[in-house]
Amino acid sequence: MENTSQETQSFQQNQDIGQGRGVYISTYGCQMNVNDTERMHSLLEMQNFTPVENPEDASLIIINSCSVREKPVHKVYSEVGTFRKMKDKNPNLKIGVGGCVGQQEKENLIKNQPMIDFVFGTDQIDNLPQMVAKAFEGERRQINAKFEHRAPYHIETMVRNPGVATFVNITKGCDNFCTFCVVPYTRGREKSRPLQHILTDIRHLVKRGVKEVTLLGQNVNSYKAEEGLDFADLLAKVATDTDIERIRYTTSHPKDFNQKLADTMAAHQDKIMEYVHLPFQSGNTRILDRMNRNYTREHYLEKIAMLKKTIPNLVLSTDIIVGFPGETEEEFRDTVTLVEEVGFETIFAFKYSPRPFTKAAKFEDQVDEDVKTERLNRLFDAHDKMAFDLVKRYEGQTMRVLVEQADREFGKIQGRSTSNKLVHFLGSADLIGKTVDVKITKAFPATFRGELV
Ligand code: 5AD
Ligand code: SF4
Repeated sequence: MENTSQETQSFQQNQDIGQGRGVYISTYGCQMNVNDTERMHSLLEMQNFTPVENPEDASLIIINSCSVREKPVHKVYSEVGTFRKMKDKNPNLKIGVGGCVGQQEKENLIKNQPMIDFVFGTDQIDNLPQMVAKAFEGERRQINAKFEHRAPYHIETMVRNPGVATFVNITKGCDNFCTFCVVPYTRGREKSRPLQHILTDIRHLVKRGVKEVTLLGQNVNSYKAEEGLDFADLLAKVATDTDIERIRYTTSHPKDFNQKLADTMAAHQDKIMEYVHLPFQSGNTRILDRMNRNYTREHYLEKIAMLKKTIPNLVLSTDIIVGFPGETEEEFRDTVTLVEEVGFETIFAFKYSPRPFTKAAKFEDQVDEDVKTERLNRLFDAHDKMAFDLVKRYEGQTMRVLVEQADREFGKIQGRSTSNKLVHFLGSADLIGKTVDVKITKAFPATFRGELV
């Protein structure tokens, strides 16, 4: 009995810890990180913290950052410097670092920046309330970065104001170990959520007004349900067994993108959007091998041909790394020609950046920074030349656009076409959440302008 009442008391204290306190979370990185921040805010709201727009108004600051490339890691350290000055003025301010940087840096963060109160890893978000409570009780230097290897991946999607389009995690972690990538180390082993949990989540979101979900995972194609069902089966179930209007997903790995998945997309085109983000990383087979990607240039092109044949109006985007260790000028050119051959309207390209724990960071033939910069610029130039022309064909076409929000420009609204293009047009905010026909008047590679039909 005594135990129970102590627990109740400590739970109540826990619940009140945020009373009269503001929380600011600084987020950067992928959609997974943005989703994690939503989860943190939801958990902290249960402790009565109030989210604030400005770090100066906060009693609790959390940095939730990405470590996939070096730049965001530097940004964390510089942000910590800024927040440290605030802490000098207000010693009661608590500062925590989470996300992939927390997972990667663990005790290093506190060693380098002793004013950090707590560090937590990507598998420890649900323990945030306890860490925060302890921090406000005066405990310093908490580090909580264990992976829950044995625990099944049972979470409930937590979004405070889901809006029209939202994200639902279906897998976490990654077992692919591409030699450049830190994710297997920062997000741990790959795990899938039970299929019924995902369907229940989506049904709840539909009740809250959500019209579109993006199923999220580092490598969605390797989703495995307990019932032996795969990702294509999951997509089909979401399409047939829930009332969600639009389904998207990201990210796919070319090595396991199969005909069944393409067929499922084609069979449910009314709900599954005709857009695929399929990172190829390099257009050269020797580099792909060194990246441990498990496909060749030819295999990639075959997959693209299969996809375009099965879903003729498909729109593709991709991720690319330039200046991977050992990449020669000729091998880099293979990347440029692959972009041209596939005709990507959108690319996300990055200079290779060595990451801790990864194999490629130890390769001895690292490419000079100047060469990487020059190649990246050349790649963007080549893409620009092509993409402006490619998207011209959309001008005059009418697209089905799900209106997501009001535009910054007065009187305008914005939404996404089925092919994932951001479209801006004149219209009333009453249309938010509705799908309307919009005629495209001007097409740029990333955004379109149009008018309501
Ligand atoms: N350096 C540069 N880019 C990287 N990416 C992942 N790891 C690295 C790295 N070490 C890119 C890949 C991936 C995207 C999310 O980030 O292109 O698809
Ligand atoms: Fe990283 Fe490769 Fe896994 Fe993607 S598939 S998260 S690039 S290791």
